[in-house]
Amino acid sequence: MSDLDKFAKDLQSQIMKDIEKTYSKKVIEHWKNPKHWGIMNDADGYGKTTGPCGDTIEFSIKIKDNIIITCTFDTDGCGTTIACASIITEIVTGKPLTFAKSITQTSVLNTCGGLPEDSKHCALLAANSLQATIRNYEETKNEPWKKLYKK
Ligand code: FES
Repeated sequence: MSDLDKFAKDLQSQIMKDIEKTYSKKVIEHWKNPKHWGIMNDADGYGKTTGPCGDTIEFSIKIKDNIIITCTFDTDGCGTTIACASIITEIVTGKPLTFAKSITQTSVLNTCGGLPEDSKHCALLAANSLQATIRNYEETKNEPWKKLYKK
């Protein structure tokens, strides 16, 4: 191994150690391997929210008998944003809409094992975007032509 390769490997290992000190295992897992990434073209509900930091999260949901049968997301945000959105897709899938409507920044923070102070707004953005998606579903379920589509 060359000196440069060793330097790069040591640096990578140090960065990983710092990340592990800062974030929970769950956040790192969803950050590295996000679940349900992508937006469904035939979604029953779609929402897109941009936070003050400029990052955007989109969700799409499929509903049957008031149960969220599929929830997917997309984002241009940071690793923490990815993790929060991915965690939301896991916790709402298979759950009633009433449960999903109760998801807040605090629920996301509790589920993901907490976040550093300067990343807590990522959980708020994810929760707000989910609520926008549910509102879109409720506002358009009887008038599908009003659906707010991504493109
Ligand atoms: Fe803006 Fe994560 S840094 S939502």
